Amino acid sequence: MKITKREFPKTRLRRARMKSFSRKMVSENRLSKNDLIWPVFLTEGTDRILDIETMPGVHKYSVDMILKELQKPVDQGLNAIALFPSIEDEKKDEQGSNAFEPDNLICTAIRAIKEVYPSLGLICDVALDPYTDHAHDGIIYKGQVDNDRSLKKLVKQSLLLSDAGCDILAPSDMMDGRVGIIRDALEKKEHHDVMIMSYAVKYASALYGPFRNAVNAGKLIEPSDKKSYQMNVSNSFEAMHEIAMDVNEGADMIMIKPGLPYLDIITKAKDTFGMPTYAYQVSGEYSMIKSAARNNYIQEEETILETMLCFKRAGADGIFTYFTPYLLNLLD
Ligand code: PBG
Repeated sequence: MKITKREFPKTRLRRARMKSFSRKMVSENRLSKNDLIWPVFLTEGTDRILDIETMPGVHKYSVDMILKELQKPVDQGLNAIALFPSIEDEKKDEQGSNAFEPDNLICTAIRAIKEVYPSLGLICDVALDPYTDHAHDGIIYKGQVDNDRSLKKLVKQSLLLSDAGCDILAPSDMMDGRVGIIRDALEKKEHHDVMIMSYAVKYASALYGPFRNAVNAGKLIEPSDKKSYQMNVSNSFEAMHEIAMDVNEGADMIMIKPGLPYLDIITKAKDTFGMPTYAYQVSGEYSMIKSAARNNYIQEEETILETMLCFKRAGADGIFTYFTPYLLNLLD
């Protein structure tokens, strides 16, 4: 952008800010319902809506209840959701076996939701952490999260989710080479139109804590953190390499995660690759805003809308946010 010489008082930037109509005329970014993706937590059983202690106002739904709960937001124009299963501890094991059961919670939910809401976009995580007793996203071998052993499992999980009717696979596991191997498998099985939204840049962030509580993930068992696969918070050039890899391997869309503290990465990614680029306003961000608002330290509505516009300004094409139902009401 070239800035021509502008001088006071010929130029008074406050002129256009004086009235509401002109502020609207010159606003460069807008939030629309199509920007919103609602992350939804699932729980087993029926007739259950459970609170999540670390995320006030967010719930886990049994499949029958989420079918009811979706009616209103779908009528309001909800475009897509991301599903996250929370399964019982007894079903978890070292290999994440429940992830490969065709009638597990997530596959049952996909089929049920597709039947009632066929045009609602369904996005599913590809990672083993909801299923493993050690709570890691991949397979542990010789004390490490083993890349290539994990890949085999992730392919299996991807095919199962696609068979069930998932529209967009979202590998969040950060294994090297996952997008390519998943894309190849999808093509072989004629799932040509199943898309891949890579969590290309997923940082090893402290802001996922409330989510791990929500999906009933236990304490991480050795290794005690995800730093050997999720990215170092201090790096941004490496993020561009991650994206380049995933784009070359066949990602249709990319995601940056967490959200607000990582807007620089969104802008850089959008400017560099021009791919459909999504932000994930993660659980910790949600809970910080929510708890501050509940104490009247900040004004909730203004704060939420501000964060959304910041994502748009940074270049995000859409935002995963737990505030989606709240925002759909506001935008109505
Ligand atoms: C699992 C996954 C996580 C989130 C989305 N998918 C947690 C993690 O990697 O530990 C976090 C989402 C949130 O915090 O809202 N791979």
